[in-house]
Amino acid sequence: MSHFLDIHSLNKQALLALLDQAQQYRSNKGKGEAILAGKTVAMIFEKPSNRTRVSFEVGIRHLGGEVISLQGAEVGLGKREPVKDVARVLSGYVDAVVIRTFSHDIIQEFARYATVPVINGLTDQSHPCQVLADLLTIQRYFPDFSQLKICYLGDENNVSRSLSEAAQILGSQMALSGPSHALGGYGDRVNDPIAAIKDAHVVVTDTWVSMGDDEKDLSPYYQYQVNQELMAHARPDAIILHCLPAYRGKEITDEMIESDQSKVFEEAENRVYAQQAVLARYLT
Ligand code: CP
Ligand code: NVA
Repeated sequence: MSHFLDIHSLNKQALLALLDQAQQYRSNKGKGEAILAGKTVAMIFEKPSNRTRVSFEVGIRHLGGEVISLQGAEVGLGKREPVKDVARVLSGYVDAVVIRTFSHDIIQEFARYATVPVINGLTDQSHPCQVLADLLTIQRYFPDFSQLKICYLGDENNVSRSLSEAAQILGSQMALSGPSHALGGYGDRVNDPIAAIKDAHVVVTDTWVSMGDDEKDLSPYYQYQVNQELMAHARPDAIILHCLPAYRGKEITDEMIESDQSKVFEEAENRVYAQQAVLARYLT
C-alpha cells in the first residue's frame, strides 16, 4: 500500500505507465472495467473545488466505486479531532482517502497513520493530480517529453512545483519566470519573461493568489501575464495550459484563454482520466 502525495514519489517508468493508463481511459471516455466495485473513496475538501471533486466523483463512479465527499468543516481535521485519529477512523471505513488541505504536513501526517492509500487533491505545496492531467494534455500535442520546453509564468505555487518535478523526471526543459521563487525546486529561474517563454512548446500559468494565500501587491506580476505579446515569443504551435479557475485580465488575457492555443478545457476533462489511472494504480 502506498500514497500519492507528490509527483516526485514516481519514477519515470511509473509516471509514463500512469499516463498510458490514463490515455486508455481517455480513449474510452472514462468508461472501463468496474475495478472499484465494492470500494468506497472518501474525499475531504478543506478548500473549495469544482474540477477535483467532480472529476474524482465521476471517475470513481465510472469504475464502479462509491464516493463520499466531505467538507473540511464537517470533519475538522486537526480541529475537531487530531489528524491522526481521522486517518485511522476513515481507514476503517473506506478504501482510499483524497484530501485537499492547506499545509503539506497535514496530508503527510494523515498518510503516516492511514492504512489505506491517501491521494493528494491539492496542498499548499503540491497538486500532483492536476499535473498528471497536464502531462496527459501535453502528450497529445508533443509526445516526446525529452524534447520539450515548458515555461511557467507567474506565481510559483503548488502547480508549478508539481509541474517542475514532472519535468525533472521526464527530462523536459523547465523555465520558471515570476516575481517570487518562494518554493524552490527544479527548473531554470529566468527573470526576463521573454527569455523564459522563448521557443517554449508549453506555456503554463495559474492564479497569482492561491487559496489560503495572504493578500499581496499584484503589480509586479503583470509583466508575466500570458498575453498575445508574450506568446509571440513561444513556438507558433505552443499550447497554453491553466489548471483553472482563471482570472482573466490578471495571469492570462481573455483573448489567450479563448484562443486556439489554449487547451484548458481539454486539460480540465483530462482530470477524470488521469485520476482514474491513479485509482487503478493505488487501489487495485
Ligand atoms: N484545477 C483544480 O484543481 O480545480 P478545482 O480547484 O476546481 O478543483
Ligand atoms: N494554485 C491554485 C490552484 C487551484 C486549483 C490554488 O492553490 O489556489
